[in-house]
Amino acid sequence: MKRDFLAVSDFSYKEVKEVFKLTGDMKKGRIKPQPLKNKAAVCIFHKPSLRTRISFEVGIRQLGGNSLYITRDEFKLGEKDDPEKREWYYDGAEVLSRMIDLIVIRTFEHSGVEELAKFARVPVINALTDLYHPCQILGDLFTIFEKKKRIENVSIAFLGDGNNVCNSFLDAASLIPLDLRIGTSPQTMPDKNVVEKAQKAGVSKIKLTNYPIEAVENADVVYTDVWASMGQEDLYESKARLLRRFQVNSQLIGYAKKDCLVMHCLPAHRGEEITDETMDGKNSVVFDQAENRLHIQKGIIVELLKKSKG
Ligand code: CP
Ligand code: NVA
Repeated sequence: MKRDFLAVSDFSYKEVKEVFKLTGDMKKGRIKPQPLKNKAAVCIFHKPSLRTRISFEVGIRQLGGNSLYITRDEFKLGEKDDPEKREWYYDGAEVLSRMIDLIVIRTFEHSGVEELAKFARVPVINALTDLYHPCQILGDLFTIFEKKKRIENVSIAFLGDGNNVCNSFLDAASLIPLDLRIGTSPQTMPDKNVVEKAQKAGVSKIKLTNYPIEAVENADVVYTDVWASMGQEDLYESKARLLRRFQVNSQLIGYAKKDCLVMHCLPAHRGEEITDETMDGKNSVVFDQAENRLHIQKGIIVELLKKSKG
């Protein structure tokens, strides 16, 4: 049975540990697997990307494969009755499955990626949807693991918009024991179903608060992301008004542990959700996070291809 990675919770906690081990070994050059030798992957991007596109394309080549980059001109799938579509999900998925060994997709609607994955006979990886950004969060948890030498019960304060990055932290907390605090306004809370699922799982300590200091107090990690995500640029003004008090600055991180990690998935809007002095300060690991996207995605691909063989 082929396996997909559309959400962090598509892996079990045991598999996350396997991916971390593989990632660490590849990063240190201890192993150089070539599971994509003589194979090709397609990277479908409906939104802009620097880190995700480059890290996938480079990673796929390092695993022995070829990568093709396509956009909305080539790939515009939809439901059978969607007049806007170029092709029905099933038809596009079947065509790709006959030529391609791995599909990476960044798009808007998460349900579209689920439809594609349902019909595709090769693994599908979510490179960001409006709901989730799982490769980012698995990479970030790997960065925390590298720096803190542990991941269980690490206290992570996410400040800002309850967006795809925030939802993926919550999703991760449904399988990995974390002490997760979300600091956001009442109007910018994360996805209700994702919150409920994480709370129901009972694996992690989860706090949702509208007070930034309450989220950050004594935290091991202080994390933020842009106030308005791709595709929501028209909401920027209103979100900025609601989220200004959640800005990650030196005053706020003063409430976290002295050796806290300051994290941001990037791209950052310096001076908005994060200040220069914090992003460039001694606690910041933002560029290690960016680099680890390459390593973790190779780990995810190796794991998925191994598990897809059965
Ligand atoms: N963090 C991240 O996904 O960056 P890009 O949007 O540049 O890919
Ligand atoms: N939340 C951001 C993440 C960018 C990597 C967005 O979706 O635009």
